Amino acid sequence: MKVVVAEGEILEGIIDATYPIWSEGLARDRYARWNAAQMRTAWGKDHLRRFALLDDRGRWVATAKRYLLPIRHDGADAIMCGLGAVFTRPDERGHGYAKVIIEELIDRTRQEGAALAGLFSEIGEQLYQRVGFVTVPMDEMDIEVERKHGAPAMLVRSGEERDLPALASMHAARSKGVRFALRRDPPLIEYALSKKRLLAGLGFGAGPRGSRQTEFFVAEEGASAVAYVVLTVSPGGWTLEEAGDRDPAGARLGAILQVLLAREPSRPAPLIRAWWPPAMPVPPQIRLTNRVPARDIFMVRPIADIGIPSRAEDVFYWRSDYF
Ligand SMILES: CC(C)(COP(=O)(O)OP(=O)(O)OC[C@H]1O[C@@H](n2cnc3c(N)ncnc32)[C@H](O)[C@@H]1OP(=O)(O)O)[C@@H](O)C(=O)NCCC(=O)NCCS
Repeated sequence: MKVVVAEGEILEGIIDATYPIWSEGLARDRYARWNAAQMRTAWGKDHLRRFALLDDRGRWVATAKRYLLPIRHDGADAIMCGLGAVFTRPDERGHGYAKVIIEELIDRTRQEGAALAGLFSEIGEQLYQRVGFVTVPMDEMDIEVERKHGAPAMLVRSGEERDLPALASMHAARSKGVRFALRRDPPLIEYALSKKRLLAGLGFGAGPRGSRQTEFFVAEEGASAVAYVVLTVSPGGWTLEEAGDRDPAGARLGAILQVLLAREPSRPAPLIRAWWPPAMPVPPQIRLTNRVPARDIFMVRPIADIGIPSRAEDVFYWRSDYF
């Protein structure tokens, strides 16, 4: 058996097989385009690849995506081998192929310098625990925004590419001192934004499941962004994908949310869901409620001499950092 980069007919077969579970409401050809486009982004082409495990006859039996994610862990820069979309073709399940491709990808990535492997499990912990992963607790919650009469007087505009360095520095400042965070540079932030925008664009017209919009707003002072939000807006409500504020109190971030809600003052507030990092200050205008463990379980496995983040407070992770 061997592991190869998934291309051509193998990739087409994988797209067909995974379409029923990971299409996000897209049509088949748009699902294929969404996958391909992520790998062509400036960040994706160097950091994201899909692999396939071939049997002795050259037929693919399992597949996974591998991300090279820059992390800061216990004050040191490192690389995490991120695994996603682990899938075994239905007629080949139960033969250990998922474990084989996971081990092979971890082994290769360790040789390329990775210190940690990480994944988000949609199927509980057991399978991944058996191959050495442990769960890092993470919560999701609702955000309740205090709604005043009218919008706060503050300049809020659409975010642009030129704002990305300011976003990166807000992230670095707010996540400083936390044991584990991604090192988010402008290309990685841009990748996370593009992935969502592509999904929204490709889902346009596909019915309620595919209907979503990505919104990126900044508060500006001088000419630069001093606070920002990225939201996914869908019929079920809003997801706060990521946010930041240059000021530790977070008041401008809270005010952006108030401005956005004031666009439709007569409508009831939408449900706003988030993974709010525990180290991120909570702005005075908002309340975090209905905290529950995140549905996607974050699990890590050390692959070099490195400790692992074990408490929710050890991790600074937004929904945007999901892979
Ligand atoms: C999960 C999956 C990749 C496992 O592939 P596989 O090659 O059969 O896995 P292995 O043979 O290496 O291991 C099988 C183990 O996975 C467990 N498993 C499979 N599907 C599972 C599920 N939906 N929930 C929990 N555990 C599951 C089995 O119980 C089995 O446990 P065992 O070792 O005690 O028998 C495969 O079932 C699949 O492609 N499922 C659909 C895609 C998916 O959900 N992927 C995971 C995303 S996080």
